[in-house]
Amino acid sequence: MTTSSPTIEARHFRDVMGHLPTGVVVVAGREPRTGTPAGLVVGTFQSLSLDPPLVSFSVATTSTSWPKIRPAGYFSASVLADGQDDVCRALSSRGPDKFAAVGWHESGDGSPQISGAHAWIDCRAVHELAGGDHRIVIAEVRALRAGTGAPLVFHRGRFGGYRAIPA
Ligand SMILES: Cc1cc2nc3c(=O)[nH]c(=O)nc-3n(C[C@H](O)[C@H](O)[C@H](O)COP(=O)(O)O)c2cc1C
Repeated sequence: MTTSSPTIEARHFRDVMGHLPTGVVVVAGREPRTGTPAGLVVGTFQSLSLDPPLVSFSVATTSTSWPKIRPAGYFSASVLADGQDDVCRALSSRGPDKFAAVGWHESGDGSPQISGAHAWIDCRAVHELAGGDHRIVIAEVRALRAGTGAPLVFHRGRFGGYRAIPA
């Protein structure tokens, strides 16, 4: 497909798209050679298909963590819970040991699941598509489990919470 894009200023794009609230999801796996946990935060995680069960997210082509997870392809997606903004900050950083101060346990596949998260989805990446300065990762769902409480929400560059409307 050939497109000619109008000029949209990057900051304006981010400002307006920031009005779309998202969940906050940690995508985490292990480096195959060392078994070291690797992970990043994404706001683009979503369910893609029910039959077969597939999910997707977008990852920047500049990500340093996804290339560590990609070779094995196995990862856990932890949907962060209300109050886990410190976990989000740690895993959206580019420090050498992002998991040092983060509580986690192993999925059945051996991927790091964030303790106290709102839900966990164990996945295996099966496909990647080009998407500008990101890549769209498509993954099959191998197992999933819901936790309790409420999700962490990201909106206009800030953390917030979810409020149910009384029935
Ligand atoms: C709320 C939130 C949502 C984010 N969503 C994405 C995303 O969907 N895709 C992405 O590549 N980076 C996203 N990021 C940025 C990455 O988490 C961040 O760039 C991280 O440092 C990448 O680390 P890496 O170099 O270790 O892969 C998000 C960050 C935050 C705080």
